[in-house]
Amino acid sequence: MNASLPQWRLDTLGVDDHVHLNNAGASLMPACVLRAITDHVELESRVGGYEAAAIREPSISEAYGAVATLLNAKPRNIAFTQSATTAYAQALSAIPFDRGDTLLTTRHDYVSNQLQFLSLRRRFGIELIRAPDSRAGGVDVDVLAQLIHRHRPKLVSVTHVPTNSGLVQDVAAIGAACREARALYLVDCSQSAGQIPLDVSLIGCDFLAVTFRKFMRGPRGVGCLFVSDSALERGLAPLFIDIRGAEWLDADSYRPAETAIRFETFESSPALVQGAGAAARYALQVGLPVISARVLALATRLRAALANLPGNRSLDHGSHLSGIVSLAFHGVDHRAVVERMRQRGIAVGVQLRRVAVIDYDGKGVTSSIRISPHYYNSEDEIDLAAQVLGGLVSEARI
Ligand SMILES: Cc1ncc(COP(=O)(O)O)c(C=O)c1O
Repeated sequence: MNASLPQWRLDTLGVDDHVHLNNAGASLMPACVLRAITDHVELESRVGGYEAAAIREPSISEAYGAVATLLNAKPRNIAFTQSATTAYAQALSAIPFDRGDTLLTTRHDYVSNQLQFLSLRRRFGIELIRAPDSRAGGVDVDVLAQLIHRHRPKLVSVTHVPTNSGLVQDVAAIGAACREARALYLVDCSQSAGQIPLDVSLIGCDFLAVTFRKFMRGPRGVGCLFVSDSALERGLAPLFIDIRGAEWLDADSYRPAETAIRFETFESSPALVQGAGAAARYALQVGLPVISARVLALATRLRAALANLPGNRSLDHGSHLSGIVSLAFHGVDHRAVVERMRQRGIAVGVQLRRVAVIDYDGKGVTSSIRISPHYYNSEDEIDLAAQVLGGLVSEARI
């Protein structure tokens, strides 16, 4: 047990009510995050939304600083968005795709990103290529590098940690291949931010998207997009830019903002931005190396405890695994099991084929149970979840 565990749990209201092992869905906010949000909403109710934002300007700018520190970036490279998906859409809309241009991705990129790629293909006639996996699981980085050289993609997109399995993709190695070929590189770190240390200079990306409600332990309804200096200098800007992102100069011209702010939209929630900032500061205070080591240790303990359950098929393939534990049982209704775990006070997730058609069709499953511990979970909670799940699965078979 980590000596700081009691403090982490004291900071987390929800641990008294239930066992929360759905951090890949939405985690429990620490009290400081909750306070940052409610203080601001309360101020808005007293002085008005625009006035509250002006009063809290220093704390809003601190949020940019905290998120930048978390990613080893500068505040000017951070744009707050409503979600990771809107961050992705903003970034994709900035890529000057022409008919026949290639977008290279993997079999594991997030469902909504895949839908956006398909939509781009449908409307603009781009080529969509998905690099194959290696034997160990996860994209084969050597083959992906060869595909970059052969097809000269305008964009390479990779989800660092997929939603539907415990895989961790080697985003730094892929970044090196992109840089060599001068391909633009967009990375989805929605499931890795807050559980794995991230450094945009090591990843070498032009864009990186994050959502805050998952391992970041922030609120729902806020995400961010990192935009590199080189992407800003190239003049990349979202297609549907607004008054926050650009200045209307005269009837027929506008100038995009100098910084990543050009990817933001005017209407956003200062309360949620400050909540995101508080979450980033809290994660930095706990320490990303401490968090990642503990998440992996808890996930490994869980995988070991579940390994011997009859009919368990682990869906986590890859040489590096994350804190997302995904498994399927033949002949068991995963949705019903997850609901029964909820009734017993244990929150875990269910994933249906529609979130991972390529991966799940390849693995021959139509749904899975997803258990995602975080550093504030205790070893006892992991053992209890494994025991209860084992019991429910054997009952479900009778
Ligand atoms: C890997 C990954 N990327 C992106 C998203 C989308 O995040 P949001 O719902 O904030 O757009 C998710 C959400 O589950 C995710 O797991």
